[in-house]
Amino acid sequence: MSETAEQRVPDALKLDFCGLRFNSPLVLLSGCVGFGEEYTRVAGFSNRDVGAICLKGTTGEARLGNPPHRIYETPGGMLNAIGLQNPGVDHVVDNILPALDFEETRFIANVCGSTIEEYARVALRFDDSPIDAMEINISCPNVKEGGVQFGNVPEMSARVVEACRRETDKPLITKLSPNQTDIQENARLCIEAGSDAFAVINTVSGMAINAEARRPVIGNVQGGLSGPAIKPIALLKVHQVHQVAGPHKVPIIGQGGIQSVEDALEFIIAGASAVGVGTTLFYEPLACRRLNAGIADYLDRHGMASITELVGSLQLG
Ligand SMILES: Cc1cc2nc3c(=O)[nH]c(=O)nc-3n(C[C@H](O)[C@H](O)[C@H](O)COP(=O)(O)O)c2cc1C
Repeated sequence: MSETAEQRVPDALKLDFCGLRFNSPLVLLSGCVGFGEEYTRVAGFSNRDVGAICLKGTTGEARLGNPPHRIYETPGGMLNAIGLQNPGVDHVVDNILPALDFEETRFIANVCGSTIEEYARVALRFDDSPIDAMEINISCPNVKEGGVQFGNVPEMSARVVEACRRETDKPLITKLSPNQTDIQENARLCIEAGSDAFAVINTVSGMAINAEARRPVIGNVQGGLSGPAIKPIALLKVHQVHQVAGPHKVPIIGQGGIQSVEDALEFIIAGASAVGVGTTLFYEPLACRRLNAGIADYLDRHGMASITELVGSLQLG
């Protein structure tokens, strides 16, 4: 790939995220792009088009994930219950990270565990690796232990963040669950515990039933809903977390159903410094080039020299 990031993405889209230089506000979301190497095989896509790539959720030991079905299309969305299938953190650090080109974009690990100790162990292993930052996944609704068990209780979320914080100085991005009653209190405690940033939101818990068979469609019975169906929920959560995180200058990667340029702009206006694209990639793998161009055009039309001018610019009242 001979083109440089400068040629592909306008300067106005570049930003600093927790001290990391992002080529663009776009982030490829965990679970939607494998371990960051697969997408480079999509003709016309370059890792230089995006600010960062979040790798698939990684645990201390390898996991086979849930029984089928694991994915089911719903109106305006997708239900998934992969169950954190992954080869384990040692394999990721030893065999996958060395193949990634850290010149092209930033790579973010997605740290998962069934216990607080496992989260800490995974964070420690990634600390001694070239990974740029870590996302703490306390919001996966598709596993029996860990995930939302931690993410739905603010005090437990903070304990996971605290444990990871002890193991690394790399930027920690806490991925918050929409399946909880007080996301603002959760964000507050996670900031106190040392979170540098937030990812808002993970998937929304849901279910599908095959009426003829009278059985759940998803092998795990319940799954996580993503895609355009969850966008209004995600937008509100970003707005709410920004009210808590903004005064502390803690940035947010807004996500949940982003498909159009307008979607991305709405999340940024609500308070997201960067925006994630996940489910859209399943049916439009080159969406990022379209989104970069559309965001750049908006900034130009509104006389803004940098994307940072738009972040949290929502007018209330
Ligand atoms: C098939 C699939 C697998 C996912 N796996 C993970 C994961 O391993 N870790 C994680 O934090 N989020 C995972 N997610 C959630 C996404 O990263 C993202 O937060 C969510 O899908 C909302 O964004 P979207 O509507 O743009 O897809 C997964 C989503 C999908 C669709």
